[in-house]
Amino acid sequence: MGREKKLIIGNWKMNLGVHDASLYLHRLEKLVKVHRNVEIVLAPTMLAVQTLSLQIDRRQFRLAAQNFYHRDFGAYTGEVSAAQLKGVVDYALVGHSERRHIFNEHDKDTRAKVQAAIRNDITPVLCIGETATEHSADETRDVIHDQLAAGLTNVTSEEASDIIVAYEPVWAIGTGINAKPADVTKAVLAIRSQFKHLFGSKVAEEVRILYGGSVNEDNAADYLMLPGIDGLLIGGASLDAHVFSAIIEKAHKNSKKDT
Ligand code: 13P
Repeated sequence: MGREKKLIIGNWKMNLGVHDASLYLHRLEKLVKVHRNVEIVLAPTMLAVQTLSLQIDRRQFRLAAQNFYHRDFGAYTGEVSAAQLKGVVDYALVGHSERRHIFNEHDKDTRAKVQAAIRNDITPVLCIGETATEHSADETRDVIHDQLAAGLTNVTSEEASDIIVAYEPVWAIGTGINAKPADVTKAVLAIRSQFKHLFGSKVAEEVRILYGGSVNEDNAADYLMLPGIDGLLIGGASLDAHVFSAIIEKAHKNSKKDT
């Protein structure tokens, strides 16, 4: 998929059960218009993925898994694999900071998950970002570099152009302290330059990059208008259908091709 559409992903995290997820979907369906220049993706709890996949109109919404296990099948009690999610979701988050910092996922896990997603025709949304300590120590560029290098090991140039990178500074997630647009621009440039180095200029131009971290109705446009940004990964603000749909309208207005 190209970069002509803005991509807006709502990550509901561990909120909304199956019933509430369906209610939310019905509410959102009524609020959101179908825009050809915006793609809307919902990442519900794993429990609601199947239910929503039967309820959504795929011309309006797509689904993402928040997490999955990197092996396809086997004796892994409690896990759900990308192979099992194949055909149910189009996207899957990989390496979200909550996975990295609460569940101790390491680079080797994100690498294996990127591979598993690609193998199962699911587009990985590789989440990267520095902690507050790393941010104060001016280590953002190095952290981004290392997380990308690890996640993208064994990815071919052809596969790389379809990957999505979400830059989410850890200190900006759920805190109400959002990153400065100028800093996001710097991070986006660093990400594209690493893609260029690894996979060439064409892929660097094609890869979609999202910002996430305390995005709300008031600041969404500040990020959507940044040159290298292709969309947003939204946590808290995606749980309110009115706020989420307002952000989607902003994406529609800020998209390059206004159709
Ligand atoms: P908030 O939008 O709640 O800061 O969460 C961002 C996030 O983690 C999305 O994946």
